[in-house]
Amino acid sequence: MMYRYSMTSKRIVITGASRGIGLEMAKILIGKGHSVYGAVRNPDGANDLREAGPTGILQLDIGDQSSIDAFGQELASITDGIDILVNNAGITSNDLGVNRRQCNPWEIDPAIVLEETQINALGPMMVTRNVISLLEAGNNPVVLNTSSQLGSMVIGAMMPSDVAYNVSKAAVNMITVMSASTNKNVAFVALHPGWVKTDMGTDAAEMEVSDSAGAIVDSLLSLTIEDSGRFIRWDGTDHPW
Ligand SMILES: NC(=O)c1ccc[n+]([C@@H]2O[C@H](COP(=O)([O-])OP(=O)(O)OC[C@H]3O[C@@H](n4cnc5c(N)ncnc54)[C@H](OP(=O)(O)O)[C@@H]3O)[C@@H](O)[C@H]2O)c1
Repeated sequence: MMYRYSMTSKRIVITGASRGIGLEMAKILIGKGHSVYGAVRNPDGANDLREAGPTGILQLDIGDQSSIDAFGQELASITDGIDILVNNAGITSNDLGVNRRQCNPWEIDPAIVLEETQINALGPMMVTRNVISLLEAGNNPVVLNTSSQLGSMVIGAMMPSDVAYNVSKAAVNMITVMSASTNKNVAFVALHPGWVKTDMGTDAAEMEVSDSAGAIVDSLLSLTIEDSGRFIRWDGTDHPW
């Protein structure tokens, strides 16, 4: 069944919508009346997302190509277009079982760099590739690729503890600008969400998740094709490359 769609309500896909910034963005966007499709690794466990009342909950593991393919097919079976894709899901080296404080270029196992880049950079690239025809059928379509200040050459050099994470987010930035230069139908924007109090950001972080997600949503909803190829902070200002 195709869901009905009104011009004021955007059809928005958010990956990693089970917790953290992705869940908070989903809640805010649902509260604003948008149709949110939350993509999660484990739909049965996505109780917080379910309580928020999304239009759909879809299974997606961005580290697994067969899951990405099935996700694209499932999405195409429930909607004929999407207006926004938020590639939010991501990991740090901690999630791969190593201490991210000991992941500098002199100590890290290169297999960690490859796996993290596969998940953080190639995962979103392949998700986008799988749903690009749905985006091209959308209104003012936007892909927001969640990067990090640590993917910036300027900031990454000052915070060199986790080369796997920094490389993976630098790759997100490159994929974003190359997507922008090769597809003029969709806006591709890289995002630094701030240092945010989530499982990843830890309690030591600077920003509350509601402040980060609220600002990202405001910025996201004002993006147009003119913004394609930018790297922005949560508040829509330019982040240095
Ligand atoms: N928090 C910060 O300070 C900060 C700073 C800069 C950038 N970022 C970026 O912002 C994004 C969101 O971060 P966060 O702080 O909200 O992180 P988080 O609280 O750790 O949440 C991570 C989310 O990604 C999902 N995920 C992880 N691996 C996945 C996979 N293979 N397939 C699908 N989903 C997967 C998780 O799903 P499960 O629940 O299934 O594990 C979860 O929903 C990430 O891309 C992160 O790199 C965060």
